[in-house]
Amino acid sequence: MKPYFRNFLFVFFAMLFVACEPDEQPKPPPAGDLESISYDPQPYTIEVPDNFPNLPFIEPGSMTVDGVELGRHLFYDPILSADFTQSCSSCHLPAGSFTDNLATSAGIDGVNGTRSSMSLLNIVYNDEALFWDGRAITLEEQALLPVEDPIELHNTWGEVVDRFKAHDTYPEMFRKAFGIKDSEEITKELAAKAIGQFEKTLVSSGQSKFDREKRGEYFFNDDELAGELMFNDQTDETIPEMECAHCHGGELFTTNEFFNNGLDAANSLDDFIDKGLGAVSNDPEDNGRFRAPTLRNIFFTAPYMHDGRFETLEEVIDHYATGGHVSPSIDGLMNDLRNQHNTKPVTEEQKQQLIAFLKTLNDVKFMENPAHQSPF
Ligand code: HEC
Ligand code: HEC
Repeated sequence: MKPYFRNFLFVFFAMLFVACEPDEQPKPPPAGDLESISYDPQPYTIEVPDNFPNLPFIEPGSMTVDGVELGRHLFYDPILSADFTQSCSSCHLPAGSFTDNLATSAGIDGVNGTRSSMSLLNIVYNDEALFWDGRAITLEEQALLPVEDPIELHNTWGEVVDRFKAHDTYPEMFRKAFGIKDSEEITKELAAKAIGQFEKTLVSSGQSKFDREKRGEYFFNDDELAGELMFNDQTDETIPEMECAHCHGGELFTTNEFFNNGLDAANSLDDFIDKGLGAVSNDPEDNGRFRAPTLRNIFFTAPYMHDGRFETLEEVIDHYATGGHVSPSIDGLMNDLRNQHNTKPVTEEQKQQLIAFLKTLNDVKFMENPAHQSPF
């Protein structure tokens, strides 16, 4: 060993020794190291109203208080978009029951999509076939899509994850949510998991007139009651059956199934502008079929249908009252409605009664729940 190198080594080890001397103040962990931050996950329990069905299976331990909190931040943070201008909440606002009240939504480049934003209310019950056409399977898969969608947040996940790693608070929040030991362990999958956890908390308050009526805390007035009977086909022969409950039934007011409710006329199965489920399943019989969404909070989510074509509930009811437009995949119930229109048309008063019933599904408490609002 050459002398100068020996000297160098001596100085080097001496410096190392000095550097390792215990000093008064604990040193800050090296950049990225998160192990000094405590990881103590508390399970998050989703509360649903008593009259609701049981929750679908949720992996034990997959929902934590810190995970939901991280997801809420990510949902509202424009850091997800290329130019820091849009977040998930730009198109899913609490005041619109997590829609944007637009027929179609523009992303950060001002380009509009072809579909209307969907309410995220009670989404925990549908983790099987998301979107109007069912093309996304789980919330965690879905949450990955808007970030890189060129007509939504138009970013790349690589860029977003780099922003998280360099962020003042996100490394710590990912640590608390997922127990990662180093900010290098932050991934898009963990971000999507957190967003999914937050979305699963978006459950009805149970304080709508409908829910209170089911618990005996409220009594429907005459119009609301008449509307409910028409909705459920529980009428006598003199009053029209509106068939609604077949497709929007149960306590959730959706069965998450797909139907063609007669929005567009078509001569053949290839004739639909937007094929809906058919473009996903590749079964031509599914062309023109879309998911029947929940009618809870429907009063607050105008405009209506996958392309936002109807401005008001009156227009929606007029559509159903006349049975819609004929096409090869139209649902038989729509044909029943059309036949009924010829023999027993729905009166203006009956339409208003149906709307009165739909308004009993208004759940302002859900929209105003502080836990659902922006943390910023
Ligand atoms: C530019 C507007 C826009 C942004 C930004 C946006 N969404 Fe959406 N979202 C939509 C539209 C439009 C749909 C319906 C799309 C379709 O069916 O083709 C939708 C559908 C969804 C659905 C499916 C709901 C259901 O009932 O099936 C979920 C979940 C969702 N968005 C979550 C998110 C999350 C999470 C983010 C942020 C990572 C986000 N969205 C960002 C517009 C947006
Ligand atoms: C044959 C099944 C079927 C019947 C019957 C039916 N619907 Fe629908 N409904 C759907 C489908 C499918 C959609 C989504 C269609 C689309 O956008 O392409 C829908 C959409 C809606 C929407 C718009 C939802 C939104 O978020 O934009 C409203 C409101 C609605 N239906 C109310 C009713 C009412 C009220 C009745 C009874 C008069 C009724 N529906 C009967 C299947 C049905």
